[in-house]
Amino acid sequence: MDRTPDTLYLRIADQLAGSIRSGTLARGERIASVRELARQQGVSMATVVQAYRTLEDARLIEARPRSGYFVAGRAGRRPPEPDTTPLPAQSHAVAVSSMGARVFRMAQDPEFVSFGAATPGEALFPHERIRRAVSRAAQRHRASMSHYPLGTGTAELRRAIARQALTMGCQLDLRDILVTNSCLESVSLCLRAVTKPGDVVALESPTYFGFLEILESMHLRALEIPTHPRQGMSVDALSLALDTQPVKAVLAVPTLSNPLGSCMPLAERRRLAQLVAQRGVPLIEDVIYNALCEHDEQRRAVRSYDDTGHVMICGSFSKTVAPGLRVGYVDAGRWSEPVQRLKAVHSGSHTEFLEQAVADLLTQPGTESAYRQLRNTVAARVDEARDIVAESFPRGTRVTDPPGGYILWVELPAGSDSMALFEACLRERICIAPGTMFSTTGRYRHCIRLGLGGRWDDAARAALRRVGELAHRPDVAGGAD
Ligand SMILES: Cc1ncc(COP(=O)(O)O)c(C=O)c1O
Repeated sequence: MDRTPDTLYLRIADQLAGSIRSGTLARGERIASVRELARQQGVSMATVVQAYRTLEDARLIEARPRSGYFVAGRAGRRPPEPDTTPLPAQSHAVAVSSMGARVFRMAQDPEFVSFGAATPGEALFPHERIRRAVSRAAQRHRASMSHYPLGTGTAELRRAIARQALTMGCQLDLRDILVTNSCLESVSLCLRAVTKPGDVVALESPTYFGFLEILESMHLRALEIPTHPRQGMSVDALSLALDTQPVKAVLAVPTLSNPLGSCMPLAERRRLAQLVAQRGVPLIEDVIYNALCEHDEQRRAVRSYDDTGHVMICGSFSKTVAPGLRVGYVDAGRWSEPVQRLKAVHSGSHTEFLEQAVADLLTQPGTESAYRQLRNTVAARVDEARDIVAESFPRGTRVTDPPGGYILWVELPAGSDSMALFEACLRERICIAPGTMFSTTGRYRHCIRLGLGGRWDDAARAALRRVGELAHRPDVAGGAD
């Protein structure tokens, strides 16, 4: 833990934010005055003022003239959350449309307000900190730019990754960590190592459409496992699927799955590790969002329960540290050697000086407080966005309440058509991701995913309200409204 004075206020803000989100401090409740809290915590009043300002920016508390500080009240009604997704009948060949590419194009287009992609916007990252790390790395490691690198990644970065894995309860061996260009590259390499065309891969339902695109490109079949919006993939349903279907790999995001934002309880993570070990099936665990989870214990990876090498852990720094540096990693357990060979064959080697920059960013003081800041900023947006959904979307709409991250899954009333909503939004220069992108089954046509990592200002709030209004239109709501 860094104890520099400039992060003390963030730690205090973080503690209070935790108490507010867990309900320990109720909406509308008065909180300690600046003087009281400074005395309780043994810090200066200036530190408490800064902490309170951070919480005000995050809309978690509000100052009332001459009365003090209060936990901000939630405006409007609280929408219900979706139910567990249905039982799988069979695996499906994957034929995803070009929607992913379309949605991504619009996420980059300044003409659009985009809720389509799950990419974090520039405003969420400390540019100056990243720039300094890159220039330091370019300066210190300039020789690395003119020699051809070989191997699995710089020792500094692999060490930093191993150290970060400790926060997920995992003890990784430096020799088994392979640096990649992204989390998706890590997942692709793992799938390539353990499957062949025509094989069945079990995954969450709904699932990240990037996974479906990979499966399609590798001619793999998807078996969608029922997933609870809070508890994640059902281990019972997976166990049944392993009994009845020729599943060759399981692909899961146990912490803050995309798009549901679910987090598996620790006992289920342990069961999952035991299940795949018993059945000899590899689990490809994507931990890309773990550092964004608000609860420390839920950052624990399934890999931490694995003592047989069946869990292949894949991550990257695209969502948490520096999206533009393109650095990911994998420790493929008992499949480390084939995965390392495949990486060498398919995308060659590494960009050492960028790896040094990421290692620097991961190890310098301030990393923890940068994560905390990121978690608090996105939590405030997600709270606001849920309120807007409650106020503006048709009655009967359900929305997830994830413990971190910036993705919401919105279930419109049955019979609604997210493709019609998508087209109606496009005409108003707003982009959303229709639910059909997240499954091979077509069963999420009445759902949409909202990515809230991008710009979040009054125009974005108004655009989200507008999405809600458009969802009432007869061609979108069908018989639902
Ligand atoms: C679950 C999940 N894994 C991987 C990725 C992609 O990460 P990267 O850019 O590091 O490949 C995303 C991006 O949305 C994601 O949601």
